[in-house]
Amino acid sequence: MSEIVLEARNIVRDYHSGGGLFSKAKTVHAVKNVSFSVEKGKTLAIVGESGCGKSTLARILTLIDPQTSGELLIDGHPVNIATDGLTREMRQRVQIVFQNPYGSLNPRQKIGDVLAEPLLLNTNLSAKERQEKAMQMLLKVGLGREHFNRYPHMFSGGQRQRIAIARALMLSPRLLVLDEPVSALDLSVQAQVLNLLADLQEEFDLTYVFISHDLSVVRYIADEVMVMYYGEVVEYGTRDDVFNNPRHDYTKKLFAATPRSDVESIRQRVAERAKKRSAA
Ligand SMILES: Nc1ncnc2c1ncn2[C@@H]1O[C@H](COP(=O)(O)OP(=O)(O)OP(=O)(O)O)[C@@H](O)[C@H]1O
Ligand SMILES: [Mg+2]
Repeated sequence: MSEIVLEARNIVRDYHSGGGLFSKAKTVHAVKNVSFSVEKGKTLAIVGESGCGKSTLARILTLIDPQTSGELLIDGHPVNIATDGLTREMRQRVQIVFQNPYGSLNPRQKIGDVLAEPLLLNTNLSAKERQEKAMQMLLKVGLGREHFNRYPHMFSGGQRQRIAIARALMLSPRLLVLDEPVSALDLSVQAQVLNLLADLQEEFDLTYVFISHDLSVVRYIADEVMVMYYGEVVEYGTRDDVFNNPRHDYTKKLFAATPRSDVESIRQRVAERAKKRSAA
């Protein structure tokens, strides 16, 4: 039987703003009744235009912000950070990678220390053990030993994203939420980082929620696709289902706007990846 790592049931998030001296109180319904589940080892892609609620949902899924209502289950356990305390163990199970990791990397911290820090804060490992694990992960994400003592500004955007991924994996999470992780990168670097993510998923049996506005990327990486529109889910199904039979007008328009050349290059990438897999 398949194992469900993440389940969302009717998740709602409202933002209230204004209501001061000069403005009327306003409520933004950023996420409306969103439900889905993700099986272990699979990738759910969330697509939708700017402002449709993707990052709001990502912050709820990674236990950074509470939902206004609805239920969130991680490995079958209901989690609500607004009403219950959050155990360290539960927080370790889900990690997030942002579009621009530079903002979250301390410019004065060497990369080896960036990677070792989660271990320092959350485990009883010795300094030597922490360093060893950090080095292992650095190599795992395709960087070299020589990078261990360098500072964040000494890396390219793609390398920094590798560092962010490595750090997210230090505590062996079950679920990784990736919020536009390759959107700021050049196409060729995008492909490298996507390949890395696919390899890591296989190796560690990771479950991904992958947020993107780029359909070519989604086609490449997703098992299932969920399309959001103004906070609502308007499309949810397997990748082939959603790509072959888009039902909602918004999705049809979104797909029609994707240049053909993209589709060709994606097909090629998917085929290459499948070939590599079957050869392995
Ligand atoms: N802290 C906040 N306070 C008030 N409103 C917010 C807050 N964060 C987000 N919103 C609003 O909620 C809605 C959803 O925003 P969100 O950042 O989740 O969109 P998104 O799909 O991630 O967009 P993008 O593709 O541009 O990253 C938007 O209308 C946004 O203005
Ligand atoms: Mg966003």
